[in-house]
Amino acid sequence: MTFTNDQNRFLKEWMNFLKIPSVSADPAYKKDVDSAADWVKIALSQAGCPHTEIIKTPGHPIVYGEYLINPSLPTVLVYGHYDVQPPDPIDLWDSPPFEPVIKITELHPEGAVFARGACDDKGQVFMHIKALEVMLSKGPLACNIKFMVEGEEEVGSDHLEDFVKNNKKKLTCDVILISDTGMISKIQPSITTGLRGLSYMEVTITGPDRDLHSGLYGGSVANPINVLCEMIAQLKDDNQRITIPGFYDEVEKLSQEVRNEMAKAPFDENEFKASIGISAVQGEEGYSNEERRTIRPSLDVNGIWGGYTGEGAKTVIPSKAHAKISMRLVPNQDWNKISELFTEYFKSLAPEGVQVGVITHHGGYAYVTPTDTVGYEAAHKAYEDTFGIAPIPIRGGGSIPIVPMFEKELGVKSILMGFGLDSDAIHSPNEHYGIFNFFKGIETIPRFYHHYCELLKNK
Ligand code: BES
Ligand code: MN
Ligand code: MN
Repeated sequence: MTFTNDQNRFLKEWMNFLKIPSVSADPAYKKDVDSAADWVKIALSQAGCPHTEIIKTPGHPIVYGEYLINPSLPTVLVYGHYDVQPPDPIDLWDSPPFEPVIKITELHPEGAVFARGACDDKGQVFMHIKALEVMLSKGPLACNIKFMVEGEEEVGSDHLEDFVKNNKKKLTCDVILISDTGMISKIQPSITTGLRGLSYMEVTITGPDRDLHSGLYGGSVANPINVLCEMIAQLKDDNQRITIPGFYDEVEKLSQEVRNEMAKAPFDENEFKASIGISAVQGEEGYSNEERRTIRPSLDVNGIWGGYTGEGAKTVIPSKAHAKISMRLVPNQDWNKISELFTEYFKSLAPEGVQVGVITHHGGYAYVTPTDTVGYEAAHKAYEDTFGIAPIPIRGGGSIPIVPMFEKELGVKSILMGFGLDSDAIHSPNEHYGIFNFFKGIETIPRFYHHYCELLKNK
């Protein structure tokens, strides 16, 4: 693939953006997160956005931009995030996470950029900035555009929530456009019509008041790590159902008809297993692989620690053991209630002789969007224009906590026009984003604006 001068420049700019380690979870990167926000503000204004500003929050800043033409025209609000997940474990990266490089892969003969945030979400945010630049080079916009790019998505969007609640007027819009999800493949686009909610917990088991010699005390006291493992094991039954009483009470039940419709999306179990190097899938009985990771709730340990994990062997019964546990939720489940149910049940599982601490980190609601809206239709037509094939609606398994919030506070639906692939390894070592996907996004986004405005004119 040969690139035009503009394309080469876009690539270079994108890679410069990726050099900034905007890790929102780790206070050590606070300055870098700030510079990433400044970078986005400058990139937006260089693309031709006449008004841009940095909005400080008690956490990381929000970048806001506006291109307002005429209040009588429709307004599209573009949302994305410039923060990224921590790069750990760093030794599993083939090249340093914040030194972006282009590599050719089997799936990406045109090349893919490897770096943390390449896809999630710096690459996809940057597509929108460049799409604006391309559109402006061709003439005046057909609608008003607002940009809101935040720095706390990967840590729960807490401060953005307050900002949205307090700035409803500023954020007034007709539709919200987001590229922070994926599609089925490079030849089969899809539009994400749902996201799962989340409840993120941390638990601590405390046993003896100090670490003990495991020979002098082993066999006579409850070991907090053993206890933690036993308690976690009880959170699911043999059919991989979550055992927390009341957990499934509000879970949205989908009709067989809707499930059949969803099952039409292409899926190859062998390819799925090969793509992540596993020999068998597992999950809740009675549901397909794709249902298990989208329309059904799940529970996973994200991290577990305690005791001695250094070089060699140390004989010790630790005083404490910890785990981070998340639950993905589906429509109608209330994450606050689920967090409470988890806390109560987890505490009830503790044997005598240990204390249990449970805290809720953050959470968010699930989201579903109907497919009979102008926004959805415009996205559908946009993908059709550039891929030459109709996009398929799919439910996503990940979460974007602000999306259900937008609906609640602003009363506006979000259109999830993602261009990533499951193989992009977001949140994993060696995250990357195809150059094909990047330019396809820049090509498709202007088609969305075009169709959205045309469809509204004819309504
Ligand atoms: N972009 C992802 C969410 C996503 C990816 C949804 C692919 C659907 C398909 C987002 O950045 C993300 O990772 N969200 C977090 C939210 C959490 C930290 C509050 C998640 O899902 O773990
Ligand atoms: Mn994201
Ligand atoms: Mn993410």
